[in-house]
Amino acid sequence: MTQKRIYFGRFISTPKPDELLIRTGAVLVDSKNGRGVIEKADWTVNGPNDAISKFGVEVPVVTAEESGFFFPGFIDTHIHASQYPNAGIFGKSTLLDWLTTYTFPLESSLGSEKSPMYNDSIEPPDPLARAEAVYNRIISKTLSLGTTTASYYATIHLEATNLLADIAFKKGQRAYIGRVCMDRPEACPEYYRDESTEETIANTKASIEYCRSLDPSGELVAHIITPRFAPSCLPETLSQLGALAKEEDLRVQTHISENLNEVKWVKELFPDQSSYAEVYDHHELLTSRTILAHAVHLSREEMQLVRQRKSKVSHCPASNSALGSGFCPVRTLLDEGVEVGLGTDVSGGYSPSILDAVRNACIVSRHVGYLNDGDSKFNLSVAEGLWLATMGGAKVVGMEGRVGGFEEGMYWDVQEIVMGDVDSSGRAADTGVDVFGWESWEDRVAKWVWNGDERNVRRVWVGGRLVHERR
Ligand code: GUN
Ligand code: FE
Repeated sequence: MTQKRIYFGRFISTPKPDELLIRTGAVLVDSKNGRGVIEKADWTVNGPNDAISKFGVEVPVVTAEESGFFFPGFIDTHIHASQYPNAGIFGKSTLLDWLTTYTFPLESSLGSEKSPMYNDSIEPPDPLARAEAVYNRIISKTLSLGTTTASYYATIHLEATNLLADIAFKKGQRAYIGRVCMDRPEACPEYYRDESTEETIANTKASIEYCRSLDPSGELVAHIITPRFAPSCLPETLSQLGALAKEEDLRVQTHISENLNEVKWVKELFPDQSSYAEVYDHHELLTSRTILAHAVHLSREEMQLVRQRKSKVSHCPASNSALGSGFCPVRTLLDEGVEVGLGTDVSGGYSPSILDAVRNACIVSRHVGYLNDGDSKFNLSVAEGLWLATMGGAKVVGMEGRVGGFEEGMYWDVQEIVMGDVDSSGRAADTGVDVFGWESWEDRVAKWVWNGDERNVRRVWVGGRLVHERR
């Protein structure tokens, strides 16, 4: 079924890192069941009727509110769908004790009755029912926050991972689905690990096939090869996953250099490689389709290796602050030519909102500046933060030119943002962002970034399909 629509109103985007482009006009989109792209754009259009006459088609016109705008959908380049119930639960932990205390018990509970989370449970465990609730909720939640594309980690469990793919596909989010690979006995708990390299590879292959059966094109839902991080996989498993990624031409995601104790541990486990990045490179996991989460403590040489291999970085500032992992030097990565996008890293990160990640990226960059003699060159602007959340993310997930902006040929992956106009008696719609009317559009965008939340997201489309509407 095809269904044409015109979208008219204000369009704001960040075509370049420090440029906020604010235009009014209209675009014509054919929804094609969630595969719709912008067929035409016209920035001279001044109203719905003008749009119909300029495009020469009689189709419904969707108009953005006068006090709002269309903005490209956010791209979450790193999120653990399975960890959403733990968002905000991390105590005083840091990465390695956080994993064993909070994360492995929760993840295992989505596929195994052996999870320590069920130890005190009176009810008989029903792991798949748990997975269903968690995955339904996280996809609805991220869509309501304007995330149109997400790169997910599920768990080691094949059936539950397939369920995540089903739910993302049904709800219409563009989603990369990772079945988590972890099989190194000394690094993974007995209750939560793959039995062997063979099991890891067989279940990964099955998940690849399942995602292909849902969406043969891979444009909406696709498998992403997911070695959890170097310590959690046997070296042979890392090699076979690298070979599989090449053979199947698939994306890869993993973690790198998030925490100093982790970096030390990788040195001990892989004495033959000279750095963390070399470990992945040695196993052919540093590809142009690889997303490396965190990259907080990379050396210059590692940054250069990552750039040479055209691998990408997912910056997860909320997580790095919550787990006390450190300050990711985003400006340095960008200056070194590494592509960077943003990730929420739920539940290392406490919030599933990419808008919150934009805020946190701005804040952390100022701490980096402070630690570098107060040099403000390290500070990210609001426009740069938004660029990382859209265009930067598009590069990171290999969708540059397809999502992240309003150019002809791009998917209509878009959020409609609204804010509250304050009247003379002080009343305003409850959107969390109050606008008095004299602010420039650039300033309104800044207010949205610093104070916004899902109340500002009125409607969301992926590939022209309406996937969320705020009621
Ligand atoms: N390193 C290995 N696993 C994880 C995880 O689940 N979250 C984060 N933030 N880092 C990791
Ligand atoms: Fe993570």
